[in-house]
Amino acid sequence: MAKVVATRRLPEVAFQAILAAGHELSVWEGECPPPREELLKLVAGAEGLLTTLEDRIDAEVMDAAGPGLKVIAQYAVGVDNIDLEAARARGIRVTNTPGVLTEATADLAFALLLAAARRVVEGDRYVREGRWRCWLPTGFLGPEVAGARVLIVGFGRIGQAFARRAKGFGMEILYTSRTPKPEAEAELGARRVPLDEALPKADFVSLHVPLTPETERLFDRERLARMKPGSVLVNTARGRVVDTEALVWALTEGPLFAAGLDVTDPEPLPKDHPLARLENVVLTPHVGSAGIRTRERMAQMAAENLLAVLRGEEPPHPVV
Ligand code: DGY
Repeated sequence: MAKVVATRRLPEVAFQAILAAGHELSVWEGECPPPREELLKLVAGAEGLLTTLEDRIDAEVMDAAGPGLKVIAQYAVGVDNIDLEAARARGIRVTNTPGVLTEATADLAFALLLAAARRVVEGDRYVREGRWRCWLPTGFLGPEVAGARVLIVGFGRIGQAFARRAKGFGMEILYTSRTPKPEAEAELGARRVPLDEALPKADFVSLHVPLTPETERLFDRERLARMKPGSVLVNTARGRVVDTEALVWALTEGPLFAAGLDVTDPEPLPKDHPLARLENVVLTPHVGSAGIRTRERMAQMAAENLLAVLRGEEPPHPVV
């Protein structure tokens, strides 16, 4: 029997699997992640951790768990909150939940694209606040989506799922990726392009890269300035892929018509943050994977990964 610590309450299916395997389970019951001091106490003696993207899991946490720690099973596909080198150095396995959240995240990215272009949330506020007095012949105009050119930055599973939605809207699809994706090109009519060449030509840009040292602030002021006047940026990847100050500039004085953001830097975004004050920004609170079935499957997968390592087996979805 091993001690397993979950830093949040996850869908029950994860906990049932862990208890059914005979392990002891401690769950942080707070609505938000444990404060640092609590986290360090909570993990002591754990052999397995179930973590979420807001927990900073670094060498200090691993050492606070102690030498018995075998696995950090992340309830997300992104693992940028975990110090992978520190885990590797200690022989701790790190796992994630790829694949199952692809469609849900692509759905939300496309919802943000439509909402930002067609000013859905701004219109909703306008109606609810009692400002709607008459039909506006030239009010609430926004860029057309059908037939527009979209640039997908990062053409992995989620980028390609987003492309399938874009194809359904008759969009021309450009993508950037470290490696060409000939099958997806054939299926979707997508074309691989260098990022800086494509930016001035794209009506919409959607980000689907993981956060790494190479992608951190990939969209800085220089890149944002290269974007096509009147274009829309969508980010469902990680907030730190975009320089926030530069984004505010791009949305107020620069080329952007609007942005749809499920992720921001900082996160959570304070309500008086400059981004939150802009009418041309649609915000959601990092809910790309928040499909009911998707979250269940993520929980199940995280538990399967964790249990496999505790049994001494190779986990189905290893990162380290
Ligand atoms: C992930 O999985 O990385 C998402 O950001 C949250 O589900």
